Amino acid sequence: MDGLARRYQEVRRQTDLLAEPLSAEDCQVQSMPDASPTKWHLAHTSWFFETFVLEGAPLEPAFDYLFNSYYEAVGPRHPRAARGLLSRPSLDEVRSYRRRIDAQVLEALERGLRDDVRARVVLGLEHEQQHQELILTDIKHLLGAHPGAPAYRLRKEAATPASGSAPALDWIARPGGVTEIGVAAPGPNGEPFAFDNESPKHEALLRPHALASRLVTCGEYRAFISDGGYRRPELWLSDGWAEVEAQRHDGPLYWRGEAIFTLDGERPLIDDEPVVHVSYYEADAYARWADARLPTEMEWEAAATAVPARADDNLAETQSFHPRPAGGDGKAGLRQVFGDVWEWTASAYAPYPGYRAAAGALGEYNGKFMCSQLVLRGGSCATPRTHIRPSYRNFFPPGARWQFSGIRLARDA
Ligand SMILES: [Fe+2]
Repeated sequence: MDGLARRYQEVRRQTDLLAEPLSAEDCQVQSMPDASPTKWHLAHTSWFFETFVLEGAPLEPAFDYLFNSYYEAVGPRHPRAARGLLSRPSLDEVRSYRRRIDAQVLEALERGLRDDVRARVVLGLEHEQQHQELILTDIKHLLGAHPGAPAYRLRKEAATPASGSAPALDWIARPGGVTEIGVAAPGPNGEPFAFDNESPKHEALLRPHALASRLVTCGEYRAFISDGGYRRPELWLSDGWAEVEAQRHDGPLYWRGEAIFTLDGERPLIDDEPVVHVSYYEADAYARWADARLPTEMEWEAAATAVPARADDNLAETQSFHPRPAGGDGKAGLRQVFGDVWEWTASAYAPYPGYRAAAGALGEYNGKFMCSQLVLRGGSCATPRTHIRPSYRNFFPPGARWQFSGIRLARDA
């Protein structure tokens, strides 16, 4: 079996494992338009391989309409906000669809595929890993809406909240000058993989600045709230303040007084843990209150490129599914660069100089979303380890709070 077939099996199996603790009812419901039911994720990721890798008659022609997410070039589709209404096919039927797609993809890989089709298998696996993270954030949103605050998994499987304290925040001086950002486009068989929005490689000009050695903690964020953070319009961007007023926000999503809702259910807030589930507006307001700012994505990438991936980075493989205190002392350089929380940057999600989306449906993957969103960097406690890299650009609208999004501060030198 070749390496790609093995990787295919591992990634697909991981998705199944994430859905394992959930009942058919859990997998059915949609808690808001942004969050999809687990059953929809299980089907859509399979539809992606069927549409972009397998040639020949579709296994389930009706699924083209039900499980197309946003590909205009493929055809019309069921409205996103109504995915929770798809009571048919059943969860069992979706699981059987997954297994039939798996058999066909593995058979195709064994027969041998053209380079461009192999590249689409690679893309399909990276796509599936993105949906693995969404399965966790979307089910968290759903369970968080339940009055019983149920845990995603059985208590006996739950990770004990990491103890340990956050070291004092240190400022790491970073030089100005011209730096290279982004990566070259992947080779003809799709490897080494990068999304098209990470290229072309290009030069960026940085001013001297400093980055915070670790993420902002819940304790620090609590001080912002106590200081009237959510009552002082001068700290907020106009759109952000409008949202605070309209939504009556007074803290991060999932904060409930002295408690916090996690994928392991509700438990006391821990001051030394990184603050998570904040919007760009909240991150920006906090930074202004702290006499700092958010890093640009160029500053972030230039710094992260020099940081080695560490075995104890808190990515999905730790199964904690919640950010952990930074640990170590404040002098150890940048901490929590990969994993824990996606870090909001001050950079608008825009094309890199020279970027052109590919022709056809797969050109719709990233390019058409390059408007009105902000870039987040670094991966979270729900991101698979093999999915993240220094050049990776995640993006969400500024008001989004249901992803594992948090704050690293920057300052001008
Ligand atoms: Fe998708």
